[in-house]
Amino acid sequence: MKLFESARIRLTAWYLLIIALINIGFSTILYREVTWELERGFLRAEQHLRMQPVLYQQVKELLRGELNEAKDIVLLRLLILNGFILGIAGVAGYFLAGKTLHPIESMIDEQKRFVADASHELRTPLTSIKSEIEVTLRDKNLNLKDAKTQLKSNLQEVDKMKSFTDYLLSLSRYEAYGSDIQMEDVDLAEAARQAVERNTALAKKEKIKLNLETEDVNIKGNPQSLVELISILINNAIKYSPKGKNVNVSVSKVKKNAVVEVIDQGVGIEEKDIPHIFDRFYRADSSRCKNDVDGFGLGLSIAKSIVEVHKGEIKVKSILGKGSTFIISLPR
Ligand SMILES: Nc1ncnc2c1ncn2[C@@H]1O[C@H](COP(=O)(O)OP(=O)(O)O)[C@@H](O)[C@H]1O
Ligand SMILES: [Mg+2]
Repeated sequence: MKLFESARIRLTAWYLLIIALINIGFSTILYREVTWELERGFLRAEQHLRMQPVLYQQVKELLRGELNEAKDIVLLRLLILNGFILGIAGVAGYFLAGKTLHPIESMIDEQKRFVADASHELRTPLTSIKSEIEVTLRDKNLNLKDAKTQLKSNLQEVDKMKSFTDYLLSLSRYEAYGSDIQMEDVDLAEAARQAVERNTALAKKEKIKLNLETEDVNIKGNPQSLVELISILINNAIKYSPKGKNVNVSVSKVKKNAVVEVIDQGVGIEEKDIPHIFDRFYRADSSRCKNDVDGFGLGLSIAKSIVEVHKGEIKVKSILGKGSTFIISLPR
């Protein structure tokens, strides 16, 4: 906060300095021009008056006085005008500096929140691993079986952290280096097929029937990212559906776009959550309560960055308790 206030003031000072320099330059030129004109007028009047020497002697001093007074008035007016302009420039500059710095400020705030959230997310499994290890080490009669059980439990936590850091890496890759991602011709139907395949084991475990319907559509994109994108949506559709339901994935052409739809008959998303589900770390309450649904709230933010890298759009329609439909449209 302090940093931004002082940056704002410094920026305003720079604006003012530049404007003051320009003003001084212009004012000097203006003052020179005007006084030069006045001097010329004075000389012309003097020449006329010389023809009447008596009168000339009388008014000469008066005329000089008038001339000097006129010069002083010009100078004074210029000074007032300059002060006025600098005053307005100061206020406007302060306002503009605030406007210029605001996006940077919010970006840094978001970054701080991100680091805090990420550290928190890593701390939980680490704390649990640490206390398990401590308990095990204190156990004097530790046998191999107990030790293995403990290691297995540790491994689960480590796996969680691993998948968390994978998510983070993926997210930062798209957010920071999205524009560097290699684009090529991609068969979107094939990408959807691979995404379905990645989730078949999970679907089987959750007793969800995965259906895929495709048209042949080719787009310019990054094949791995597109598989990841569709896979994230299918993964969610499975995670947030009760056993026995269907998840339908379709790829089609609509006008100049390729459209991928992932439709589930799951828990749905509350209206108030919809604007936030693409935010990093956001998880709707219903999914937080369901202990068995684990996740970090990063899937959809990665999905959104991938869609943005492809200059597409992602939308969601959902009815609580009935199901959700995620629609991605990508330019062909
Ligand atoms: N198909 C879906 N059905 C219901 N809720 C969903 C669905 N997809 C996403 N959500 C909601 O959006 C939130 C964010 O999703 P995501 O970013 O993938 O995080 P995660 O799955 O790790 O919780 C989820 O926690 C969930 O509340
Ligand atoms: Mg998810």
